[in-house]
Amino acid sequence: MRHLIDFGDLSRQEWDALYQRAGQIIDEPEQFIDVCRGKVAASLFYEPSTRTNFSFQTAMLRLGGTVFGFADPSSSSVSKGETLKDTIKMVSSYADVVVMRTPWEGAAKAASLYSAVPVVNAGDGGHMHPTQTMADLTTITRLRGGVDGLSIGLCGDLKNGRTVHSFIKAMEKFQKIKFFLISPRELAVPDYIRLFMREHDMWFTEVTSLESVMPQLDVLYMTRIQRERFVDPLEYERNKGVYVLTRRKLERAKENMLVMHPLPRVDEIAVDVDDDPRAVYFQQARYGMFARMALLEHLALQPRREEPDGVEIGTAPVCRNPRCITQTQHYLPPLVKKNGGIDCCAFCDGALE
Ligand code: NCD
Repeated sequence: MRHLIDFGDLSRQEWDALYQRAGQIIDEPEQFIDVCRGKVAASLFYEPSTRTNFSFQTAMLRLGGTVFGFADPSSSSVSKGETLKDTIKMVSSYADVVVMRTPWEGAAKAASLYSAVPVVNAGDGGHMHPTQTMADLTTITRLRGGVDGLSIGLCGDLKNGRTVHSFIKAMEKFQKIKFFLISPRELAVPDYIRLFMREHDMWFTEVTSLESVMPQLDVLYMTRIQRERFVDPLEYERNKGVYVLTRRKLERAKENMLVMHPLPRVDEIAVDVDDDPRAVYFQQARYGMFARMALLEHLALQPRREEPDGVEIGTAPVCRNPRCITQTQHYLPPLVKKNGGIDCCAFCDGALE
């Protein structure tokens, strides 16, 4: 693995090694205070963030490295009209690893084509968020001893929630997972995720009621309705507040079920759930920092590649997803990948036909 754009960039062995490393860091953090000394991470946040930005920054600082970047793109040359390609070529000439979050789907993949150093996708629009998945898997494995065989409920905005998409893709590497996908019909998972699950013979069922499946779950992963991704404000109004987990609803859940949430929460978990021993979302955020330390150690120590891998320019149709990075960065090659036998945009996963 040279970049982390999608959880699929990691083999199961690579994930196991990173998880082991995160565990060593959790147990003996003082052994790691110098492993990235002299290394510099660039942190490019084109979208708001608290946890991801701070946890990457503190991860690098705890490894003895340093961080530069922006959390507000209006303070960078993007506001003058600079292309992503130019920004990345320049930033990767200063840094040893680039961490980026953007509202455009496929932007981290696009950046990786031009970067001399590893690129980490810290969230690309409503598409993917693989390092949140690292936090999620670290939490489940530490607290449940493993991931195989679990029944997992994903609840809320499954259409726009990138943490959900990354999580589902990662589960293909584990055995006998059952997914209960709980959402309003209009916020169900995108087609490319459904195709992915079918292609990999993953067990899943789509339901609208949280209460009806609660007793079966080993993990309940709540998510926020992603207001900023709605094109139609009425659609948001119709769906906001649709799921609220309360102490009362938890009475029907297993005693050792984990309640997880990538955070920030709006109103989908009542505050009185915080004191329930099953609520692990703040612990999950802390595990995320250790998982990112393991990742940064792995990536920041890799040699630079002044000539990034060449890309072949094909003749694929242009992606029609209005949020795809190819819509604004017109120099990008129309790369294609197969998903469930269908030609899809290699940046945003949208179907090309
Ligand atoms: C998530 C994100 O940014 O996608 N937050 C995070 O990184 N912990 C979830 C969200 O914003 O709802």
